[in-house]
Amino acid sequence: MIIDQHTALYGVVGYPLGHSLSPAMHNGVFLETGLNAVYLAFETKDMGGCLQGMKALGIRGMSVTIPHKSVVIPLLDEVDDLAKRIGAVNTIVNSENRLVGYNTDALGVLKALEDKIELSGRNCLIIGAGGAARAVGFIMKENGVRLCITNRSNDKGEALARSLGCPFVPLKEMGDIHADLLIQTTPVGMYPHDDQCIVPRELLKKGMVVMDIVYNPIETKLLTLAKIRGCITISGLWMFVHQGAEQFRLWTGREAPVTSMIKLVEMELGKSG
Ligand code: ATR
Repeated sequence: MIIDQHTALYGVVGYPLGHSLSPAMHNGVFLETGLNAVYLAFETKDMGGCLQGMKALGIRGMSVTIPHKSVVIPLLDEVDDLAKRIGAVNTIVNSENRLVGYNTDALGVLKALEDKIELSGRNCLIIGAGGAARAVGFIMKENGVRLCITNRSNDKGEALARSLGCPFVPLKEMGDIHADLLIQTTPVGMYPHDDQCIVPRELLKKGMVVMDIVYNPIETKLLTLAKIRGCITISGLWMFVHQGAEQFRLWTGREAPVTSMIKLVEMELGKSG
């Protein structure tokens, strides 16, 4: 890989960043597609300063993560409609010094599901009411899915259900819900707490589609249980890679090599245990 005066710079901004898999994924793809570009991790609380820096230094694109996904919106020159409705931006494109915000999490989850199933007409239970649940909820609603929200705290869950125009059920009542699609959006089950599962066994019915947006481990406790109960399972790895593929497309105008991105992320996850 050659870095010279033409090298395009991309990155991820968040605080704290923790162990982000995005640099390995995007740098791997730049290398594979022969693009003269690098992707770095910027751990900062100063989102305003970061945007100024993007313009001043000509940084081409940025992934945005916790805690900046909502606060960045009023600071951008333009925000895509879907990202506006979701209320969160996870991708910035520097288009001739205009910073434009998008939400590729929503498209990531859509792609991950559409690869495996027909969505329209499904009854979906979303577990959680944070930023990820909002992205999932809005894109599902737009694709003809009937929704129901459950969440640990009732007030947050009810607020999301209201903005999606769907019912809310308290967490301890989720076993009574009839759903043929379940999307788990909380961090429960994430490494190193990978022995945890928020979903009661009896909810997992044969033929049900179960997606966990946690991707470390690739197969969470929920997905292991769901497999045993005869469900169709989808790992959060697919959403993560598809949201990254959409970022690559927005930044470069090219289609991303999704299969090699999956391999790259699997390899990285293998390294970190
Ligand atoms: P993100 O933007 O990644 O979705 P978030 O906004 O912090 O993250 O939201 C996390 C979601 O996971 C919330 O719905 C949270 O529930 P509360 O609204 O009650 O806080 C849920 N969550 C986090 N830890 C949880 C746990 N241990 N058990 C159940 N729900 C949990």
